[in-house]
Amino acid sequence: MLEIIDLSKHYGDVKAVQGLNLTIQPGEVFTMLGANGAGKTTTLMVALGFTEPTHGAVRICGIDVARDPLEAKKHVAYVSENVMLYGNFTARQNLDFFTRLGGHHGATPDDYNRVLARVGLQRDAFDRRVKGFSKGMRQKLGIAIAIMKDAEVILLDEPTSGLDPKSGGEFLRLLAELRAEGKAIWMTSHDIFRAKEISDRVGIMVSGQLVKELDRDELAQADLERLYVEFVSGLEQQTV
Ligand SMILES: Nc1ncnc2c1ncn2[C@@H]1O[C@H](COP(=O)(O)OP(=O)(O)OP(=O)(O)O)[C@@H](O)[C@H]1O
Ligand SMILES: [Mg+2]
Repeated sequence: MLEIIDLSKHYGDVKAVQGLNLTIQPGEVFTMLGANGAGKTTTLMVALGFTEPTHGAVRICGIDVARDPLEAKKHVAYVSENVMLYGNFTARQNLDFFTRLGGHHGATPDDYNRVLARVGLQRDAFDRRVKGFSKGMRQKLGIAIAIMKDAEVILLDEPTSGLDPKSGGEFLRLLAELRAEGKAIWMTSHDIFRAKEISDRVGIMVSGQLVKELDRDELAQADLERLYVEFVSGLEQQTV
């Protein structure tokens, strides 16, 4: 479970996150929408313990990230927008390296084959150096690394931004499987249509604040694109 409790993060005068409260349960997909600079990635950075909150806290499986970052990190997997990989290693070597780093030492070559196929990486790329990989291929490998960690909480920053339409659809099916396994999933996206399709809840963030939250029933009824534009342009005007 992921709990964000009255979280604020300021960088000097910039209030990147202001009073955010959110709980993501096991088996739930939450998508945060919001304009560039709304505070989505900052929220993730605090949740991962990469930066300290100015106020409030994030708990992962009940563990306060700022107080016990090492213990909290055991329970969270992260896929960033630009996945960090070793260019001179092959896909399989990267997967093996990061899986061991995450504390799993018993994975077999078959496990790696299965997970690389599951994320939709083409088979002829498994043993190629990642130096020449496209953004989408890197994202797929990043998702494979996250799956191997088998963490209760999965955080993804714009995971579909580099994926072609077919891969994007496959990614949604993969998320649905992870949800069925009981993972608590928090992602950011600019893709309103995919967000609507997969999410149990969607939030809209404007200037560091969660200004609107919709559950599945509300999502089915709402014109999410219209709502998004209304909230983002309306509130941005007020804060100018
Ligand atoms: N390390 C930092 N130092 C100073 N300001 C920062 C830092 N990181 C983020 N900010 C500021 O915090 C605000 C929120 O940025 P953030 O990256 O969280 O937005 P975002 O919602 O992820 O945007 P995008 O959709 O473009 O990814 C912005 O005004 C940004 O300039
Ligand atoms: Mg961001």
